[in-house]
Amino acid sequence: MRDGVVRILAIETSCDETAVAIVEDGKTVLAQEISSQTDVHRRYGGVVPEIASREHVSCVTTLVEQVIQQAHISRAHIDAVAVTQGPGLVGSLIVGIVAAKSLAYALDVPLLGVHHIAGHIYANALVAPLQFPLLAVVVSGGHTELVYMDGALSFRMLGATRDDAIGEAFDKVARTLGLPYPGGPHVEQLAQQADEEIVMPRAWLDDETFDFSFSGVKSAVMAAVNQARMRGDVVNKPALALGFQRAVTDVVVTKAIKAAVAHEVRQVVLCGGVAANRGIREALATRCAALSLPFVVPPLAWCTDNAAMVGACAHALWREKRWATFRLKPKPLFSLAQFGKGVADA
Ligand code: KG4
Ligand code: ZN
Repeated sequence: MRDGVVRILAIETSCDETAVAIVEDGKTVLAQEISSQTDVHRRYGGVVPEIASREHVSCVTTLVEQVIQQAHISRAHIDAVAVTQGPGLVGSLIVGIVAAKSLAYALDVPLLGVHHIAGHIYANALVAPLQFPLLAVVVSGGHTELVYMDGALSFRMLGATRDDAIGEAFDKVARTLGLPYPGGPHVEQLAQQADEEIVMPRAWLDDETFDFSFSGVKSAVMAAVNQARMRGDVVNKPALALGFQRAVTDVVVTKAIKAAVAHEVRQVVLCGGVAANRGIREALATRCAALSLPFVVPPLAWCTDNAAMVGACAHALWREKRWATFRLKPKPLFSLAQFGKGVADA
């Protein structure tokens, strides 16, 4: 922190994106690089963990060099190295962790271990200061959660999916409709072409809960496709895509608003890969505006996996001096609660 600012080099390798960024004071992205493996995994219809790890190995060091050059800083200006510790694919996490440890050791700076979903939430700090208490609406490939935060790095789960994550449901529906992996953006594009909607079921569960369930609506899309095929009818795929997208959006937005009001939050933040969906962004923005609730959502590139979000969250760890040691291990099933309590090395 030679010149009064904190620059953190952040590495994200929890799934099929190798990403590195340099973030200043948790809010300004000086440089970022991302190498997506989507093309490699597409032919298998999903991420193949062993292939993902190998791809991370082949590009992580080059990306580190590139961001340092792009940021126009010398290595001496890096104050800490942050890395996603979990949740994620263990082999993929290991590659990022070993790279981060080596770099922190070589530069003689602290190491910081970040929770991937906390990273998604803190992507919003790159857009506007976080105002607590806040409600984070997490919609990603592996998670669908309503998280209450009454301060930095304090996470209380208000509700979560009981079966499929919303992104997982998007991906499975995409596969049913014959669309490529990852399916979310393709389902969204198809829905935009619809001239009618096939209304799909909403799983509200019981009145009291902020939990979600998306397996029913996913199965309803599959059943509609199968029934149409058995009857020899042409499947109206755009109408199904629109029906699915509206059903999941309706449930997520309605429950999020109910939780925000019940817990009297000062801000609602949306995050995770599915936050790239225009239907969901706009629906939640509109409902928050009607209640004069400040709403933040990252630009599309910071909704899906990236390293800038890891750098933003790592800054909160830096402020609390929550350094990791070189014993830091990957935590494929790391929970937000564990991370919030500061269980980094165990
Ligand atoms: O957060 P993310 O990049 O990775 C995880 O941490 O899971 O989220 C990936 C998920 C995938 O399921 C992908 O299909 C979905 O986000 N996704 C979308 C859109 N863009 C990405 N889903 C719906 N609409 C989109 N535009
Ligand atoms: Zn993610």
